[in-house]
Amino acid sequence: MFCKATLVAVALALISSASPVVQEEGHRVTSYKRSILTNPDGTFDHERAIHQAVRTHNKHRQNLVNLAANEGHEAFNEGAEIQPPRTYQVHEKRQKEPTIDEDNDLEWAGTISIGTPAQNFLIDFDTGSSDLWVPSINCTSSTCTKKNRYSAAKSSTDALKSGSFSIEYGDGSTVSGPLYTDTVNVAGIKVTNQYFSPVTTLSSSFASDPEDGILGLAFPSISNEKQSPYFNTAKTQGAVKSGVFGMKLASSGSELYLGGTDTSLYTGAIEYHAVTGSGFWQASGAKVYANNNLGGSGFQTVIDSGTTIMYGPPSAVKAFYAQVPGSQVYDSSNGFYSFPCNSVPKVAFNWGGKNWTVSAANFNLGQTSPTSNQCVGALAGENLGLGNNVWLLGDSFMKNVYSVFSFDKNSVGFATLS
Ligand SMILES: *[C@@H]1O[C@H](CO)[C@@H](O)[C@H](O)[C@H]1NC(C)=O
Ligand SMILES: *[C@@H]1O[C@H](CO)[C@@H](O)[C@H](O)[C@H]1NC(C)=O
Repeated sequence: MFCKATLVAVALALISSASPVVQEEGHRVTSYKRSILTNPDGTFDHERAIHQAVRTHNKHRQNLVNLAANEGHEAFNEGAEIQPPRTYQVHEKRQKEPTIDEDNDLEWAGTISIGTPAQNFLIDFDTGSSDLWVPSINCTSSTCTKKNRYSAAKSSTDALKSGSFSIEYGDGSTVSGPLYTDTVNVAGIKVTNQYFSPVTTLSSSFASDPEDGILGLAFPSISNEKQSPYFNTAKTQGAVKSGVFGMKLASSGSELYLGGTDTSLYTGAIEYHAVTGSGFWQASGAKVYANNNLGGSGFQTVIDSGTTIMYGPPSAVKAFYAQVPGSQVYDSSNGFYSFPCNSVPKVAFNWGGKNWTVSAANFNLGQTSPTSNQCVGALAGENLGLGNNVWLLGDSFMKNVYSVFSFDKNSVGFATLS
């Protein structure tokens, strides 16, 4: 039901956003998201934040498993090791709003189609993974039946392939299914024989999400399917001229631009940084400032549109909050900190060029309780197993910049939003 509403919303937005600007090179997908970790009453949605931390942890654990399988264990640079996901407990279960407004509860998602004729799906575009999956018509769990499902029988261009796809979760649940190839169309960029998985098992942790599946935009080396990800196939098949895509993530007017950058959405030059390590959109040499004081330096950053907030190694995040007056540990088991709501720290990241500031609105996840003067910060300490010097910058960071991902330059870049 909510999927239909979402699809309509996306379709309307596509119509209303049709601008007279002629874009010769690339193609746009309009997408949406708001911070979904703040309750309508302005308080921090603690339970959901923990749920997302678990999801993020497990996604990257699987990425590391994939990287090891694809490239050997040397791939575990910087002493990273796969960690069994922790058991998370909501120690302070809050009275939840009965329902979160569906229209406001959107991920960074847009529609794509698979098959001939087209079967439509609402997809989360994820720069932190490399596989495409959607629910299969053969998945009959209640989690799947509420979503759009792919049927091979209804496509004339499908092919069943050998192999399988599986994301394992620490709680024993999985997202898994067989491998198929079919035609995949994102914003008119059509590729043929694209590998994907119509999943037959879908962890119930995806039940509350409006999107049907995920399209990974990271590097082939972390593909669980061990196949060329969609955008890489688009480049290989000449469906896009350049191996570059740009993302603007905002409460409204979000856009994924494939095959270049949308120059109407940013001003000035793009500040590029070479990708380090393998598999992720990872840049090195980062610094962070809190209220103009250095809160950390010389760390790596993974830019991940599939993660809502920002995470750093617990000790590094502790050092960061030491620069934030009035900050306190809020949830020690999940690495959340709070700060006085009336003085949101000025947070900026720097990779040797400009300071890229995280706005107060994007850093503040809301009050710890309706009567509290402390608010929760969008940077949490979490050992993701990515390495003891790696931070993960999700939407809380990306909403402040125009982000550019270039396979051509093997670089990730930022520009000032216009
Ligand atoms: C689902 O099951 C049917 C019947 O066994 C099969 O033909 C089809 O390929 C399966 N998968 C999908 C994605 O439709
Ligand atoms: C970034 O911010 C810090 C702290 O305010 C400042 O010292 C530094 O000069 C700034 N760098 C640039 C390039 O603006």
